[in-house]
Amino acid sequence: MQIDGVQVDGVQADRMKTLGIVNQKGGVGKTTTAINLAAYLAAGGRRVLLIDMDPQGNATSGLGLRGVETGLYQALSDPASAPAQIVQSSQERLSVLPATPDLAGAGVELSEEPYALRELLEVIAASGQFELVIVDAPPSLGPLTINVLAAVNALLIPLQAEYYALEGLAGLTETVERVRLALNPGLSVLGVAITMFDGRTNLAQEVEQSVRQHFGELVFWSVIPRNVRLSEAPSFAVPISQFAPLSSGAAAYKRLAEEVMQRVEKI
Ligand SMILES: Nc1ncnc2c1ncn2[C@@H]1O[C@H](COP(=O)(O)OP(=O)(O)O)[C@@H](O)[C@H]1O
Ligand SMILES: [Mg+2]
Repeated sequence: MQIDGVQVDGVQADRMKTLGIVNQKGGVGKTTTAINLAAYLAAGGRRVLLIDMDPQGNATSGLGLRGVETGLYQALSDPASAPAQIVQSSQERLSVLPATPDLAGAGVELSEEPYALRELLEVIAASGQFELVIVDAPPSLGPLTINVLAAVNALLIPLQAEYYALEGLAGLTETVERVRLALNPGLSVLGVAITMFDGRTNLAQEVEQSVRQHFGELVFWSVIPRNVRLSEAPSFAVPISQFAPLSSGAAAYKRLAEEVMQRVEKI
């Protein structure tokens, strides 16, 4: 606990920073970013928890935790049980709160409870176990995503470098504004990450330019290239840092993690 910023009892609860990876479009690189960013933040010495808020469970299976029977759904229903639901990954310092199929049904329950994830994060923060929590959101603006927006300190928005990249973002921006007013006044946008960039095409470069024009300094310098190693890693159930550490995708996520660390310190 901290009183006026002074450490009083060894629990550094309010030091834990939480980051939501959000974009209501599917297939833009949210899960790939959540897994690999989390892995490089952990490799850099942070104690990281990745929460899989998508009932499809891609972050869970991508880190080799397919087949777990309980996880986030149980932790949301009973936050005191959270520590028992957290699983260590193959990456040192990276733990996972996995998604199970029953999370799909939680959407209905959570529409009445926008603060369910927030309450869970408070319990996790009080444990003092983690410095950073990364939440992988589902591809919708439904109750699960609203819970993410209502709970986290900041958002990282992956944008696929394609023609329609900016389309649909108005919906996200409006929702973020509404959540800020109604549920989470402290919510900030940490940054926009350009993903699946194909440097051989003029189109990708034009898209990058327009995204930088639109979002200015919010856009991270590190651009994630389209790299087949990134799409192969999940079937080997490890992050890119273990699967192909010398690939262009690995280098890009490592640099992104460095930028994220610098920005996280300011939120
Ligand atoms: N930079 C990349 N290069 C190549 N394939 C990628 C890249 N990023 C993501 N993918 C692949 O694209 C698909 C969608 O990515 P994913 O991270 O699951 O998106 P989302 O979580 O937003 O739905 C996945 O099959 C993933 O492996
Ligand atoms: Mg996903």
